[in-house]
Amino acid sequence: MKLEKCITVDNINQNLLNVKYAVRGPILERALQIERELVKGVPKPFKYVVRANIGDCHALGQKPITFIRQVLALAACPQLMSSPDVPEDVKKRVQDILHDCTKRSVGSYSPSAGLTLVRKHAAAYLTARDGVPASYEDIYLGSGASDLIKAVLTLFVKDADGKPPAVMIPIPQYPLFSGTLSELGLRQANYYLDEEHNWALQVAELERSWQQASVNSHVRALVIINPGNPTGQVLTRENIEEIIKFAYDHDLFLMADEVYQENIISKPFHSFKKVMHEMGPPYSGMELASFVTCSKGWAAECGLRAGWAELVRLQRDVAAAFSTARAVLQCPTVLGQCAVDCTVKPPSPGEASYPQFCAERRDIHRVLAERAATAYNTFNSIPGYSCNPIDGSMFAFPRVEIPENAQRAALEQGISPDEFYCLRLLEETGVCVVPGSGFGQKPGTFHFRTTILHSREEFQHMMDSIRQFHLQFLRQYS
Ligand SMILES: Cc1ncc(COP(=O)(O)O)c(C=O)c1O
Repeated sequence: MKLEKCITVDNINQNLLNVKYAVRGPILERALQIERELVKGVPKPFKYVVRANIGDCHALGQKPITFIRQVLALAACPQLMSSPDVPEDVKKRVQDILHDCTKRSVGSYSPSAGLTLVRKHAAAYLTARDGVPASYEDIYLGSGASDLIKAVLTLFVKDADGKPPAVMIPIPQYPLFSGTLSELGLRQANYYLDEEHNWALQVAELERSWQQASVNSHVRALVIINPGNPTGQVLTRENIEEIIKFAYDHDLFLMADEVYQENIISKPFHSFKKVMHEMGPPYSGMELASFVTCSKGWAAECGLRAGWAELVRLQRDVAAAFSTARAVLQCPTVLGQCAVDCTVKPPSPGEASYPQFCAERRDIHRVLAERAATAYNTFNSIPGYSCNPIDGSMFAFPRVEIPENAQRAALEQGISPDEFYCLRLLEETGVCVVPGSGFGQKPGTFHFRTTILHSREEFQHMMDSIRQFHLQFLRQYS
């Protein structure tokens, strides 16, 4: 009998071995282990683990939007249509959606880019958002924005001018990008965000990064995350104009990750599509991919895996190849598509669901603004901490000075100083955050990312725990 495995780490796709995703990395593994230990009664200096590693709002206690859940319930079980408890606008919406489903069932495959009705509603949403006509044929629904971002990045897997392809991404970044580039074997060209200027995106830094990467690679695309994850900045309109000009001058395909466009706290959001249009030719003729999701914003339906992208002005044959590649996967979940429909066409004034929808959405925005203020004020009041304002998204990314003795202790354990810090924080307080090295950071600086959408009490407990831990850490290592 053969004993060897036919697939081993030596003979599988080696790109997979380079994929890292810190948001669900070793710190979370340890947190889950600690949770099991707590259940078994192992004594700890805290009662429970506070999970702040992932932007999963419902997991933190945010209530689902009633309108979305009613639409999903009826779409899945049309027998509920006769229930007197369901508002008329929900029934009407579900009838419209089911009319677009084969045999009126969300259990049937949809077209691979998504239900035509939902794509048309998404196009209407974009037209209203940007004041620029959008076409439903440019809209592709997917299993979350992650699915579509990977699909678009796949377009760049091709050597050009004898050089391997590279994609420019921000540092710090959301590790979907670094992970997917690794998986696809694409090179990563880092550009650093300017922490001293509220994580602004400086064109001189884009230029530096491009020059450096272009020596050995063919740089194909520029990724922008706006509002930023993990950094929480919202780009100004002027900054977006500069970025668009840069991409034009360097023949780069623009990928605008705008998934936090509804998580706006203090600065207005400008879409790349709108700014390009307002700049006029030649910029208004550039290609663009922009990404939206139901996982974020007021919907925050992460578990439904529903997102969408707009791909504009692609060469016809490129769009056809992209569509065929998407068709191989059949289609994104149709219940997820129902959620997309609700987010791009929420209840409007005069409809029965409108007052409750407005109240629920207002509450979600209020909590976000409150937590952002608490995080900003708390972190800036801890010695050795600094934190930029959180203008959008749902994260804080404070910078922490880690004493040299602690840095040495980390090295001795073979881990980075920020990992060491976050592990100690977890072991001593139960607070689970993600080290900055998982997102990338300027060498010599240390950060962590925390989600900010916990209940007020839990968030306050977390802030207090972090402060006490840090003061003790300083006493031990300074
Ligand atoms: C910046 C950014 N882009 C994309 C995604 C992917 O979201 P999803 O695949 O859940 O739509 C996330 C999720 O956290 C994100 O933070």
